[in-house]
Amino acid sequence: MPINGSGKRLTSVAPQFATGRAPTRPMQDAPTNPACRPARLVPIHIPDDASLIDPDSGGPGAHPHPHPHPPEYAGHLAGVLLPSARIGSRAAELASLIHEDYAGRRPHLVCVLKGASIFFHEMLRRLQDRSQGYTFDFLRASSYEGTETTGTVRVSEDFDYGGLEGRDVIVVEDIIDTGVTLSRLLPVLRERGGCRSVEVCTLLEKRIDGERGARAAEAGGGGGHAPVVARYCGFSIPNRFVIGYGLDYNELYRDLRDIWIISQAGIEFDHKTLAV
Ligand code: XMP
Ligand code: MG
Repeated sequence: MPINGSGKRLTSVAPQFATGRAPTRPMQDAPTNPACRPARLVPIHIPDDASLIDPDSGGPGAHPHPHPHPPEYAGHLAGVLLPSARIGSRAAELASLIHEDYAGRRPHLVCVLKGASIFFHEMLRRLQDRSQGYTFDFLRASSYEGTETTGTVRVSEDFDYGGLEGRDVIVVEDIIDTGVTLSRLLPVLRERGGCRSVEVCTLLEKRIDGERGARAAEAGGGGGHAPVVARYCGFSIPNRFVIGYGLDYNELYRDLRDIWIISQAGIEFDHKTLAV
């Protein structure tokens, strides 16, 4: 039985089919990630050439507010892509849509650990602002590449599938990249959990191309898998590796307040040398 980093036992689940509810409001633009079908609203588009906020610059173009980070990350960060305040206001918009869609119902929100944890709590607070009732739970899911399949997902063994029975489930994710993780996870929740409905709320959707884009297309339409439906999506971001606000690289950088682009030095940094 595989064991994850925190010592929890993980179960492997085979890829299965996913289906999704039709959107109630059409997208204004075509979806940019082939793993995603049209969603509830158009994600905010962060362009490929978006200027980053330089953490160490006090000069022209610098953000008026400081973006503190642990000093040991100096040099690891190329710049801020999304300040936390902007994420907060987007979470408020997403919470309004959820409140509208689930009027008179109590959705069951499922946080995909660990990356989504900060966004998840932001969403819970924003739903509270609207007096939206809900229940919640957490699961740990990790995707990996099999030798012959395009991937499968391991779900923490102690996840309470019984809590999904007859419920309107909203899976809360940090980022959809290739879409492989969700395309495997959603059918499992539907079939093992017996939920009434399953939707996805993701903070980020990455625009991808090349080899990874082909994998996303496969996860979305080929290999027996229907596309991932991210009904609620915050931002469409460039194809860069992002960290912070719960997102990690080698378990580092989750503690950053904002979402940053990692620098080459950050990628090459030997994380084992960091003091604990
Ligand atoms: P897929 O490809 O299955 O990937 O949609 C989803 C999971 O992969 C991780 N991921 C990232 N984590 N910065 C991160 O910190 C990134 O840019 C990134 N891209 C993918 C993440 O765990 C996500 O849930
Ligand atoms: Mg995630």
